[in-house]
Amino acid sequence: MCRAFFIYHFVMKKILLTGANGQLGNEIKQFISQMPDYEFVLTDLNELDICNLQAIENIFAKHKFSFCINAAAYTAVDRAESDQEKAFLVNEKAVFWLAQTCKKYETVLFHISTDFVFDGKNNLPYQENDLCKPLNIYGKSKLAGEIAALQNHERTFVIRTSWLYSVFGANFVKTMLRLAKEKPELKVVGDQIGSPTYAKDLAQSIILMISETTKLLESKNLEKLNKLFGIYHYSNEGVASWYDFAHAIFEYAKIDTNLYAISTEKYPTPALRPAFSVLDKSKIKNNFNFNIPHWRKSLQNCLKSI
Ligand SMILES: NC(=O)c1ccc[n+]([C@@H]2O[C@H](COP(=O)([O-])OP(=O)(O)OC[C@H]3O[C@@H](n4cnc5c(N)ncnc54)[C@H](OP(=O)(O)O)[C@@H]3O)[C@@H](O)[C@H]2O)c1
Repeated sequence: MCRAFFIYHFVMKKILLTGANGQLGNEIKQFISQMPDYEFVLTDLNELDICNLQAIENIFAKHKFSFCINAAAYTAVDRAESDQEKAFLVNEKAVFWLAQTCKKYETVLFHISTDFVFDGKNNLPYQENDLCKPLNIYGKSKLAGEIAALQNHERTFVIRTSWLYSVFGANFVKTMLRLAKEKPELKVVGDQIGSPTYAKDLAQSIILMISETTKLLESKNLEKLNKLFGIYHYSNEGVASWYDFAHAIFEYAKIDTNLYAISTEKYPTPALRPAFSVLDKSKIKNNFNFNIPHWRKSLQNCLKSI
């Protein structure tokens, strides 16, 4: 009995989740019960401020994590324009510290990034190695974070995603549902094109990537594994403008509202946003055999849970 207990704990792989109270962090938590071979250590600002290097070192020294999922970030895109120092501290410097510590403890790092690293001048979906030219401070800080992670730890997956929403936290879907109750008519930008992403789908994909990485580590197939590390794009399938997205939200939620498409010019924001940020997902689909749901299907699933 004692020996069996020991072996069980010996093989348990530990996963550090940062930003556990955010949209993605919360969705990852929903999969924990499906991962009995892993022990999760869930942290948000109160448990682990990723801007505190000593706190990072302490938690890694204590737990010797196999994986770290960094779902923590400074995500206030417009506020970042006047809060540059904080945005870079969380999105770059802290990622640098996490990557260095992951390297020291041989922890595989999953770091989440954004479509806002691109300038939106493409008219075909962006591939992972396309030129990055962020238009705003948030995008610049996230790009700096990607570089910090990849340059300091070779066992890193950077996953760029876009237009994230979830049943948890504040997001476009919940904002639209609220505004429809408060306003007689709504005007939504119709000339920014991208792909909505249900954070639950992204969370599931990260879990599958962890399972695949574990298999390759346990079978010592490092040649294959080392080829897998690097940057990936993940969003739901399909393309939409914010207007299309809002239209679908009201259609599926059966809300009758007066919705109008407006141009970005008519809705100025402190941070510029890319006009086109559709991500090409071929790499993640091919390397991990993923079947990615269409955004309309995932939106309907999410609305059932809101
Ligand atoms: N949301 C989107 O549309 C979108 C689009 C593309 C990419 N992404 C990326 O996807 C990832 C997940 O985004 P999300 O929407 O889930 O973000 P989110 O809901 O804002 O969650 C981020 C979490 O990180 C926490 N956090 C902030 N600073 C921290 C620190 N110093 N130490 C520890 N935790 C800290 C936040 O706490 P507080 O709330 O207390 O600050 C929050 O709980 C991020 O990397 C983001 O850049 C998001």
